Amino acid sequence: LDFDVTLTERPTPAEERARILADPGWGQHFTDHMVTIRYSADKGWHDARLQPYGPISLDPASQVLHYAQELFEGLKAYRQADGSIVTFRPFMNAARMNRSAQRMAMPEIPERLFVDALELLVRTDKDWVPGTEGYSLYLRPYMFATTKLLGVNQPAQEYLFVVIASPSGNYYARGIKPVSVWLSQDYTRAAPGGTGAAKTGGNYAASFAGQAEAVAHGCDQVVWLDAVEHRWVEEVGSMNLMFVYGSGADTRLLTPALTGTLLPGITRDSMLKLAPDLGIPVEEGKISIEEWQAGCASGAITEVFGCGTAAIISPVGHVKGADREWGIGDGGLGPVSMRLREELIGIQYGTRPDPYGWVHPI
Ligand code: PLP
Ligand code: COI
Repeated sequence: LDFDVTLTERPTPAEERARILADPGWGQHFTDHMVTIRYSADKGWHDARLQPYGPISLDPASQVLHYAQELFEGLKAYRQADGSIVTFRPFMNAARMNRSAQRMAMPEIPERLFVDALELLVRTDKDWVPGTEGYSLYLRPYMFATTKLLGVNQPAQEYLFVVIASPSGNYYARGIKPVSVWLSQDYTRAAPGGTGAAKTGGNYAASFAGQAEAVAHGCDQVVWLDAVEHRWVEEVGSMNLMFVYGSGADTRLLTPALTGTLLPGITRDSMLKLAPDLGIPVEEGKISIEEWQAGCASGAITEVFGCGTAAIISPVGHVKGADREWGIGDGGLGPVSMRLREELIGIQYGTRPDPYGWVHPI
């Protein structure tokens, strides 16, 4: 598809942009443009545009507003040491968006079109990619149902795909300090057969009450347990979880297997490839809250961290539940978490070799 390009007549003044990029926070500021592409059952993907960032007009009966047929992705553009701009494994986000689309009965988007849309937006708004290591331009592709119809007997016939971009600093205002986590007994994120493996807005809408419960118990984040036995650890907040066992030459990594109720994270996948290269064997398996607590008590589990695009790595220092509470290691940022984080960031910012060709130049 060819994009119809309309540049804004009122770009953000350079001084204001510089002020934002110096301290972007997370998800609060947006660049000057956005991409939109329409889909209809009869025309397929059409009407691709790059246009000024601004409000989208929707019919009040648009299906997404009633039945939440929506999905999204998240990835970042990084400015490398030599000034060039890259994204990280964008085709993996495209493939995941299409798996989410299958689950939500939405149309798949050609992977090349998805990546073309990202590239066009980043190239147009390249001055918004921060130059500070650790900062980046967060890209948010998403798609939703626009058909004007309240019936629920069939999925929508029309959709809008959009990409917006937001300069991002640290996801957590306090940096990479260890977080405390709450074992939610009242809420689950995803049940077998449900939408847990899809990146669809409803999963996040359903998570706010659990997150609020965690905060009410003095914790930073919520740990999601399986919906059936309330025992098996799945994710933390909106991140995948990694458990480090042992230390030195005997270090190994365990992460909950993708059972269909977890989001298959791209950071998770990257860690599973990078850790063995650092001499750390990895295993995808099951871990219960009892095993987690016992492992910390015996010292077998030395570090635990959440991982995802936004925060990269978020160490877990303390775990709290209705009837139990324990600490992990010395409660600080452990050497294995730090090492894996450095390795991944090094690839993204071009200060380390990229053995798997993950970095995608814009
Ligand atoms: N789990 C959930 C529920 C998420 O929303 C995310 C973030 O997108 C992740 C895990 C991490 O995925 P990724 O590493 O692809 O960002
Ligand atoms: C992540 O990138 O790790 C996220 O969880 C994104 C979040 C804002 C939905």
